Amino acid sequence: MNDPNGPMIYKGIYHLFYQYNPQGPVPGHKVWAHSTSTDLVNWTPHVPAIVPSQEYDLNGCWSGSVTILPGYKPAILYTGAGPQKKQAQNLAAPKNLSDPYLIEWVKSPRNPLMASTAANGINASSFRDPTTAWVGPDGRWRVIIGSKRDRMGMAILYRSRDFVRWTKARRPLHSADDTGMWECPDLFPVSARFPVGLDSSVNGPNVKHVLKVSLDDTKHEYYTVGTYDSRADTYVPDEGSVDSDSGLRYDYGKFYGSKTFFDSENNRRILWGWINESSTVDDDIKKGWSGVMAIPRTLWLDKSGKQLVQWPILEIEKLRTNQVDLPNKLIEAGTVLEVPGITAAQADVEVSFEVKELEKAEALEPAGTNPQMLCSQKGASAKGGVGPFGLLVMASKGLEEYTAVFFRIFKGQNKYVVLMCSDQSRSSLKNCNDKTTYGAFLDVDPLHEKLSLRTLIDHSIVESFGGGGKSCITARVYPVLAVRDGTHLHVFNNGAQSVGVPKLSAWSMKKARIN
Ligand code: FRU
Repeated sequence: MNDPNGPMIYKGIYHLFYQYNPQGPVPGHKVWAHSTSTDLVNWTPHVPAIVPSQEYDLNGCWSGSVTILPGYKPAILYTGAGPQKKQAQNLAAPKNLSDPYLIEWVKSPRNPLMASTAANGINASSFRDPTTAWVGPDGRWRVIIGSKRDRMGMAILYRSRDFVRWTKARRPLHSADDTGMWECPDLFPVSARFPVGLDSSVNGPNVKHVLKVSLDDTKHEYYTVGTYDSRADTYVPDEGSVDSDSGLRYDYGKFYGSKTFFDSENNRRILWGWINESSTVDDDIKKGWSGVMAIPRTLWLDKSGKQLVQWPILEIEKLRTNQVDLPNKLIEAGTVLEVPGITAAQADVEVSFEVKELEKAEALEPAGTNPQMLCSQKGASAKGGVGPFGLLVMASKGLEEYTAVFFRIFKGQNKYVVLMCSDQSRSSLKNCNDKTTYGAFLDVDPLHEKLSLRTLIDHSIVESFGGGGKSCITARVYPVLAVRDGTHLHVFNNGAQSVGVPKLSAWSMKKARIN
């Protein structure tokens, strides 16, 4: 599987469609696979909702989104890959609206609805992934579609009165030089006042917008917080751009092709993202699957107004069992302490660290502004001043294998800088996997705030949330010793100074039902 498609809640049932190749765990002709859930944790698979059947989608039914139209009618807009991978946007609607599972979908006889022509200058091989549509002040629908012209990435804007006849706007909603193809764009409003979600068409005072794009060139996602002017149909980021080393990302590890939706029954906006493999295709074929969805995350605008905050949906806590608490502890420099009594290969861990003194913090070299590079140079085994301290997850008994998720504090120009890392370099004795180390800066003041870390572990998947969800890093690991009952969890401190651990709770996680 790859991208999540058309997530929605309809009549109390969550729907997730996703890119899926029925031929096997390798690239191929994609269908829209379909699963439903009442709690976002346990899932029922259904037959694929849309499959290639027409000339315009014979090479695949690619990514797209759902919009709930007036009269409570969901509609899918998706990209059809036609001959020579020529891309165009198509509509599909439920065959039977009284079926809450919406099993059958019918393609519009008017398809394709948005396509390249000699007149509109669209590049047919780079025109895909329509967003959820929203309504502007003139009552017309708007949708954006990922594209590029030469190296300029862009979000092409279309408008429609009836959702069937679409007209391309003269200017794209937003574009950026030298960013390459924009895949899976997403534009949505966030409240500048409360940590709640907003429906896609909401705009006005105290509303900011977020534009996210998935960059095909780097397979990384970037977002900006900015202002969407719904009269002029322009989006202006408050600061930064969609692609710079300092650009904001949902996730600084593996996370791509993501999409949000508004959960109208719980007033929250939920983010779905795809985590691809870090293993070889041969191994994928052996294990029989490839690609997973990350645990859905609720997201909202941080109090600073400058970035988003993400947190695993509360429902995931239904899987928690056998809580283990570590009493308030001081972890001396050079300590590795096991957290006993949980199924460490399937666990949820919440820990916070308290640093009383920052005297020993290493100086941050002016060149050290790329957090991923810093984390690779200063991995978990590189002794530091304040930190590295954090968790060793998916660890084998003798620590031959482990994945280290940790913090390290530096003295910056005029403030302390917190680095969050996920170090996969020792994750497996096998050498054929991608073991890249990931890193992010965390906007937390370590003098006045505790440093919190939550890590969700599910065998090969490690999803970490630093600072209450201000920076997130997802990794894939394939240990050979640290499997099932042979897996351990530790807290460690490899700095020169002790750190307090006022709180650590860990839970064994039950299995979700997926059929
Ligand atoms: C992103 C992507 C999309 C496309 C889909 C095809 O991962 O390449 O741009 O619609 O996957 O599966």
